[in-house]
Amino acid sequence: MRYLLLFLLSLSTRTLLPGQSSDTHMQWFQDAKLGIFIHWGIYAVDGIDESWSFFNKYLSYEDYMKQTTGFTAEKYQPKAWVDLIEKSGARYAVLTTKHHDGVALWDTKAGELNVVKQTPAQRDLVGPFVEEMRTKNLKVGLYYSLSDWSHPDYPLHRSQEYRYQPKDDPARWARFLSFQRQQLRELSTQYKPDLYWFDGDWEHDAATWKSEELRKELKAALPNVILNSRLAGYGDYATPENGVPILPPDNPYWELCLTMNDSWGYQPNDHTYKSVNQIIRIFADCLSMGGNLLLDIGPKADGTIPEEQVAILEGLGRWTKKHQEAIYGTRAGLPTGHFYGPTTLSADSQTLYLFVPHRPNGPLVIKGLKNKVNRIRVVGQATKLSHEIFSKYYWSEVPGLLYIDVPAYTQAEEVTVIAVQLKGKVALHR
Ligand code: GLC
Repeated sequence: MRYLLLFLLSLSTRTLLPGQSSDTHMQWFQDAKLGIFIHWGIYAVDGIDESWSFFNKYLSYEDYMKQTTGFTAEKYQPKAWVDLIEKSGARYAVLTTKHHDGVALWDTKAGELNVVKQTPAQRDLVGPFVEEMRTKNLKVGLYYSLSDWSHPDYPLHRSQEYRYQPKDDPARWARFLSFQRQQLRELSTQYKPDLYWFDGDWEHDAATWKSEELRKELKAALPNVILNSRLAGYGDYATPENGVPILPPDNPYWELCLTMNDSWGYQPNDHTYKSVNQIIRIFADCLSMGGNLLLDIGPKADGTIPEEQVAILEGLGRWTKKHQEAIYGTRAGLPTGHFYGPTTLSADSQTLYLFVPHRPNGPLVIKGLKNKVNRIRVVGQATKLSHEIFSKYYWSEVPGLLYIDVPAYTQAEEVTVIAVQLKGKVALHR
């Protein structure tokens, strides 16, 4: 209850940003829960860190840029990508249109550095993907790095040294911003994204980026577009990276971006893939706190998706398909202390979903639940489960301990999910 109150309070006290009419434009995002992040760029040719490998001087800028000659995209099949994305259970995807290295994946007219002019791919790679996504009614997110370590007017040189400070050469900085705005106008008009995923904002403050103005411009072109947080304070939702928050972030809208192994882009020598089970548990942790998971894949330079990544998305898809009702459109579950594991609540707050990350060696227990229970069942197989209430004293306000037995034959291959149908909206004793 306290959490609900805090949540309502945070909604009412949250100041609206320019162009932010209400929270209704966030609805699809909040209900979607799973997105796929796609890091695709010339860095897949040698299988090295995107942009950072030259910035951190693991190799020279010239050697990094030589990868352009190997970026063929010859087996790129956007339909196959989108089929797989849909199969995983994701409702949106975010494609890198330009990383910090400055190489655009579309035919930008703002500059020469793009895959159409500089690589054997020789064509726009963004458009065909966007079209396929639309045919499946999936939402389209475009990643765009505000920083650009290749552009001659960008202050931070690829050698990690500053060419100049924006305040000392406003005309040069203005030139860079106008290049950036032109690229963004191209993306908005050509692809009409549902979401922009900015990155690299940490190199300058909001005043230097002119974030407020940029936000207004983007929302004027696309009134419902959603902006991630990396706009120096002018975004719509928080983006924790590679670590499930321990407590829910302040912003009620958030998304954990997560690598499957330890790399964003394709790196054949990185075999540290998390298992499907581990990814499902991380996903359940996000759901439990009302957040989304943006799970990353890194296609190869020829446009194919590495086998390990396909297998993970398919495994995840088997689980999301079976457990849909506990995932999409749900809200954050119980605050910690009531159940050993992640939980979600249906939009009407009358069904509580329990995620069982380990094989139980005894009954599950819920503490401090005031509601009467109508029925308990295993999600995805309709088996009913019995329950017992212990330690409920007639003279005490404190609800008893609700025990649910989950026999082995009801347990799912990965994380089992139990639906507890409550009488009325969830009510907690803290
Ligand atoms: C980081 C990195 C970048 C990656 C991004 C994804 O900010 O700069 O390489 O694309 O996170 O979240």
